[in-house]
Amino acid sequence: MIFTVAIDGPAAAGKGTIGRRVAAAFGFAHLDTGLLYRAVGAKGGDPVAAARGLGAADLARDDLRTLEAGQAASRVAAIPGVRAALVDFQRRFARAEGGAVLDGRDIGTVICPEAEVKLYVTASAEVRARRRWQELGGEAGAKPLAAVLAEVRDRDARDMGRADAPLRAAADALVIDTSDLTIEAAVAVALAAVRAKFTP
Ligand code: DC
Repeated sequence: MIFTVAIDGPAAAGKGTIGRRVAAAFGFAHLDTGLLYRAVGAKGGDPVAAARGLGAADLARDDLRTLEAGQAASRVAAIPGVRAALVDFQRRFARAEGGAVLDGRDIGTVICPEAEVKLYVTASAEVRARRRWQELGGEAGAKPLAAVLAEVRDRDARDMGRADAPLRAAADALVIDTSDLTIEAAVAVALAAVRAKFTP
């Protein structure tokens, strides 16, 4: 059984949570493709060589989830040679036997346009920045909300504005705006969308 759920959207919209929950509910494999770009950015040196040589140890680093790693990922993700080096791995994962959920920026548009379900998970920049800021400790954390919002906007502009595989919703994607939804409500919308297309 080949079945792909493609989840795209900007940073901190809830893609990861929704992706993990959908994968667990249907027993599908899950790939957070942002982690690939984060690992390339963190590796340093020539980004194209880093993408070509990416291995399990690179993905297991414990410093890939920081805001800085996200910015570095967004920068290397604009390099066509980096994207090209990561395409085959993602396509194979998407169409492997047993079902797969991939979340990222170009899954429904470039990596797997044939995905059976496409979701575009979004939220306002203010809401997304507040979520990230709270994850970083809120008032007690090291960064003011305004700085996190500036980084969110900066990353959106780069991810949506790049020439190669820019972030956008596929024409046939279901848009889920999580600005005013609880996690449970957003997950329920995603699960219903998959259930409507998937017959075990
Ligand atoms: O989802 P994330 O925040 O971990 O992604 C980090 C960066 O990687 C994101 O700003 C852009 C890039 N990325 C991409 O270009 N394509 C993907 N499929 C996933 C991530």
